[in-house]
Amino acid sequence: MEIVAKNSITSGTGGSGHRLVEGEFWTSRQRRMHSLHYAVSYRASFKPELPDFFIQRHTKPGDVVFDPFSGRGTTVLQANLTGRIGYANDVNPLSERIAYPKTHPVLLEEIARTLDQIDLSSPVEMDGLSDLLHFYHKDTLREIVNLRKYLKTHKSDVDRFIEMIALSRLHGHSTGFFSVYSFPQISIPAANQGKINERRNQIPDYRPVKERILRKAKQVLRDADVEAIREVGDKNVFITGDSRNLAGIPSDCAALIVTSPPFLDKADYVQDNWLEFWFLDIDIEEMRERIFRTGDLEKWEGFMLDSMREMRRVLRPGGVCVIEVGEVRHKGKQLNLDEIIAGLAPAAGLKVEEVMIHVQKFTKLANTFNVSNNEDGTNTHRLVVLRK
Ligand SMILES: C[S@@+](CC[C@H](N)C(=O)[O-])C[C@H]1O[C@@H](n2cnc3c(N)ncnc32)[C@H](O)[C@@H]1O
Repeated sequence: MEIVAKNSITSGTGGSGHRLVEGEFWTSRQRRMHSLHYAVSYRASFKPELPDFFIQRHTKPGDVVFDPFSGRGTTVLQANLTGRIGYANDVNPLSERIAYPKTHPVLLEEIARTLDQIDLSSPVEMDGLSDLLHFYHKDTLREIVNLRKYLKTHKSDVDRFIEMIALSRLHGHSTGFFSVYSFPQISIPAANQGKINERRNQIPDYRPVKERILRKAKQVLRDADVEAIREVGDKNVFITGDSRNLAGIPSDCAALIVTSPPFLDKADYVQDNWLEFWFLDIDIEEMRERIFRTGDLEKWEGFMLDSMREMRRVLRPGGVCVIEVGEVRHKGKQLNLDEIIAGLAPAAGLKVEEVMIHVQKFTKLANTFNVSNNEDGTNTHRLVVLRK
């Protein structure tokens, strides 16, 4: 194994004869990239600097960049912002409902006009919604329910953008959210929200929905050249399926894959998105079956091998695949998932070019509020760079 010193940090660990580099390859300052990236929080997402680093390194404008575990669509959006075409897949339909609108932005005036026309004041049936009253004042909830109903039958790009912004407002810290003080990154269970309310001595106050959507949309669109992004975004492909069977994505098409799979059972994408699932009417039980989550290392390896074989099929010859994984605690020990991925590569028909360990220097503040890759026990990005 060859170890390359970069940015003054080296590492001596590693697996099967490949190059290992360790350092701070990009700097991630708070909200420094395009404003559209910060539209929605998503469980276990990576920062835009990560895909950007590899897009700049391995592709040219017009190339296809693919992410089979797309999450909030950071890879496809960064691809579009740099003139590349984005292909995205995630088994969770929430992913496409976030990623499509971000890559098909609309004008603020169109959002304002549409919001003006939606009636959010109709009386609604509150039966079965009592859990939600831990988060929302009844008048806010009435508006959310009316908006949800409207969005079920209205699907223009303006409607879809409004839906994405509404998703981002469902729960969070500040008064810009629809909910009383809650967690921004995950939907916490209603009972836990009840406890927070007691502890903080808070009851949900009325938070008019439309003005919050408009304010957030304005922030998110701050950097956006709507026409230019839409022009390249129109060439994107979104599918909602299992990474082991990407039938909707042609073979040999992608110059680059940048992706981050579920890290064993470290994140619960179902529980942590229950409010979003309710808002979009996504069946929670079905999601429990379809979203891959296991504490069994052997099963995870099988899942990753099948997924990597599909990634290889989609890559064009000579194309590069970057798989980001964390170091996780497993059965009381540190487990470097990059070593497992590197070990699986030959069976998937991929060659390991190098493993990059990106060590991020957190400020205390960043650590508290904005570490997007903060899985339990994860504090670095471990990136396996593979070539077809
Ligand atoms: C670590 S997250 C990816 C986050 C993404 N990089 C981002 O920045 O938002 C892993 C994703 O894998 C998805 N996933 C889980 N099981 C899957 C499967 N069988 N096929 C495709 N995607 C799956 C989850 O829904 C989740 O969005």
